[in-house]
Amino acid sequence: MKYQKLFEKGYIGGVEIRNRVAMTAMGNGLATWDGEASPELIRFYEDRARGGCGLIFTEFTRVDENSGACNPNQLCIASRKHVRSVQRMAECVHRHGAKIFVQLHHGGREAPPALNGGRQPMGPSAIINQVNGLVSAEMTKAEIDEIVGKFVNGAANCKKAGIDGVELHAAHGYLLGSFISPYTNKRTDDYGGNAENCCRIVTDIIRGIRAACGNYPVCVRINGSDFVEGGITLDYAVQVARILESAGADAINVSCAVYETVPNMIEPNYYDEGWRKALAKTVKARIRIPVVAVNTIKFPATAEKLLEEGVSDFVGVSRGQMADPEWVNKTRAGREDLIRKCMGCMQCNKSVVMDGYLSCAANPVTGRGTMYNDEYLIRNGDGRRVVVIGGGPAGMQAAIVLAKRGFRVDLLEKKDYLGGMAYLATVPPHKTMVAEFIKTLTAEMKEVGVAVHMNTSADVKMVKKLEPYAVVVANGGTEIVPKVAGLEAANVHTMEEALLKKVTFSGKRVAVIGGGMVGLETAHYLCQDNQVTIVEMTATPGATMYPTVRNKLLSILKDEGVELLLNRALSAVEGDSIVMDCTDSREPRQERLTVDEVVIAAGRKPNLSLYHEMEKAFGKVVMAGDCMMGGCILEATRTGNDNVWFL
Ligand SMILES: Cc1cc2nc3c(=O)[nH]c(=O)nc-3n(C[C@H](O)[C@H](O)[C@H](O)COP(=O)(O)O)c2cc1C
Ligand code: SF4
Repeated sequence: MKYQKLFEKGYIGGVEIRNRVAMTAMGNGLATWDGEASPELIRFYEDRARGGCGLIFTEFTRVDENSGACNPNQLCIASRKHVRSVQRMAECVHRHGAKIFVQLHHGGREAPPALNGGRQPMGPSAIINQVNGLVSAEMTKAEIDEIVGKFVNGAANCKKAGIDGVELHAAHGYLLGSFISPYTNKRTDDYGGNAENCCRIVTDIIRGIRAACGNYPVCVRINGSDFVEGGITLDYAVQVARILESAGADAINVSCAVYETVPNMIEPNYYDEGWRKALAKTVKARIRIPVVAVNTIKFPATAEKLLEEGVSDFVGVSRGQMADPEWVNKTRAGREDLIRKCMGCMQCNKSVVMDGYLSCAANPVTGRGTMYNDEYLIRNGDGRRVVVIGGGPAGMQAAIVLAKRGFRVDLLEKKDYLGGMAYLATVPPHKTMVAEFIKTLTAEMKEVGVAVHMNTSADVKMVKKLEPYAVVVANGGTEIVPKVAGLEAANVHTMEEALLKKVTFSGKRVAVIGGGMVGLETAHYLCQDNQVTIVEMTATPGATMYPTVRNKLLSILKDEGVELLLNRALSAVEGDSIVMDCTDSREPRQERLTVDEVVIAAGRKPNLSLYHEMEKAFGKVVMAGDCMMGGCILEATRTGNDNVWFL
């Protein structure tokens, strides 16, 4: 077998796990409002169990119904009413041979009052939270004992529900992590002052679980580093792991970072696979119990290599399996080309935090498996022909669904490449996973028999010749070009021309007009060889981007010497300079900037003209992707999927 280590059995606290692939906890907002495991949540885990995952850690799960919540619709295991639905969840996972641990959690200083009846967040010490500006209440000994009891009760409920073990969430700055970390624990009593004391709340819980549940497996997720001054360092994390091992923990899951350093915790695309391996490897070398670790793993070969290098005993492939529940089965079958790999785009995190429930850009079924699942596909295509116009993610996703439904699908792409705007997004640094995604969709189309016609422009006349049953218009949006003087000059280019290298320049002063996501990424590409200034008309660069990605990219651009001019709208291009209106000035005011080249990256807008033409000519026409709504890959794959589901 190609990946021997990956498919070796492993053990945690006597529980046999069929392979070394874990999916670590991911908050997803799929539980019911009162914390029960909903059919959608159960489906989410069952799909990953069916897909071959060895060990599933549930999302962070509340042990207290009155405090510590961090998401609306967060799973809870505090009371008897929760046990029944969690039991059903365990059964659904077990029937596919996977094991499941519930991650027991209390949000502590990160638990927002809005989700906790207005209650002040609590923690080891009364200190300000730099992220939300709130001061946590210092917990009394009685409160600590009460919380310890709630974790033990949560574990006992998990055992009753047939769950295979629990993981104590003592990482990421939540309640238990905030006790462990000297960054947040300033106590001088038995619960602070040294590593032993800082770990006491966790060791009390472990011992409590032992007393209540016997040899029930307990894993503890800790930080290998907080990446903040005064926080957990790797040396300290080793001490912590050893203390927890002595207290009876069965495994240590090494993660890292707190809310203040969140990009290191859930990494956007700017991190390399395995970048944090020193943390787990160092901890593993100093303890005897198994170590679990994520490492922003995208490819099976990376996972295997990390196991070979002795970085951890189990690899966490978390967003990897969020994006493709069949990650393990496809790996085993030698079909890595068909794995929809995580792009690190952070749309999942954004959707949970901002919409309240999970979505994934790579996979429109994620979080919606009770509705959009291959087994519910209406396979009534019966060989009827559907023409899909446009080979971006929306068109490709639509083509794949239609072909699976039994339609004969012809996809027409006017360019000589597939991917549409996503193809352009592969050009800036650190965007290779988007290229990988396009490759996978292309392989999937081949697998299901979509006929792809490159360099083929679609109009009513030519589509009529194909006599389609239906037409899907997914031909993309139109570039927004500001209406200003001087754009016809030879030194003015579109971002498409720049990214496709139809124009190239180096050592030039380049103004990128537009500081949205596309503008920032175009600037990132151009700044490799040029002195770049971004001109953005609003006060907020990358306004629609998720802060984790935006802040990371902005800090990279800053390091690369890119200048950011905010509240400046392009007014004219005049020879070797651009004129800008100052949008933050009450009086009309203009500024001038000397540049060699100008690249317009002002975004895109929907364009339904082809859709309307097709609508007049054919009985069944649907739209998908950028032509109907501006958006990212998430909106493209989602509309591509949904709009042809019942066609
Ligand atoms: C949407 C989302 C929610 C997460 N929620 C949790 C959580 O509840 N508990 C936890 O310990 N880690 C959580 N994480 C972190 C993951 O467990 C994992 O450490 C992280 O995604 C990096 O691993 P990966 O690159 O394999 O995805 C979350 C990550 C994501 C993307
Ligand atoms: S939304 Fe993006 S980051 Fe999240 S799992 Fe899907 S592809 Fe990965």
